Amino acid sequence: MRIVGKAEAGILTDIHTECFPRYWNRQAFTDFFSVKDTFAILVENNEKSVAMAVYRVAFDQADIITIGVLPAWRRGGIAKMLLENMLDDCKKIGVKKIFLEVEDGNEAGLKLYEKTGFRQISRRKLYYQQLDGSLTDALVMEKRL
Ligand SMILES: CC(C)(COP(=O)(O)OP(=O)(O)OC[C@H]1O[C@@H](n2cnc3c(N)ncnc32)[C@H](O)[C@@H]1OP(=O)(O)O)[C@@H](O)C(=O)NCCC(=O)NCCS
Repeated sequence: MRIVGKAEAGILTDIHTECFPRYWNRQAFTDFFSVKDTFAILVENNEKSVAMAVYRVAFDQADIITIGVLPAWRRGGIAKMLLENMLDDCKKIGVKKIFLEVEDGNEAGLKLYEKTGFRQISRRKLYYQQLDGSLTDALVMEKRL
């Protein structure tokens, strides 16, 4: 597991594409890094990149922008390890609260976040647009460090 930057935007994009139906392009990942204090973590296994997370810190708060594990590598504790690592890093630099958005109905995401101590603090109605044009809610979750 290592912290990566703009040079790995292509790898981050490839993982995101396999994890989300509405994936982001390489430019989106490159642009993330133009904002100060944006970090990405890559998990590798025998030189294969299998998971990633991107988060952004702003003084004593942080936002998880995305987290994804390739389908073949799921349910092995990788996301939990990634998240715990991120939470540790945030704590070390003085972050007090960490936020994220997850789609209502994303059972794997919700269970993962509940298990790592996040709790729902609000709902953003009709926040995500699906490939068929329909809209779904986002749940906003918070964890205090
Ligand atoms: C959500 C995601 C990151 C989980 O990755 P993962 O490496 O499989 O997760 P872990 O193995 O670390 O699981 C940790 C805990 O999360 C929960 N969990 C993970 N996947 C789950 C699933 N499919 N169904 C129910 N609970 C699940 C479990 O509580 C699990 O603990 P357990 O295995 O001891 O029961 C992965 O499924 C993924 O990339 N999904 C697509 C992208 C996404 O939805 N990202 C999150 C929202 S932004």
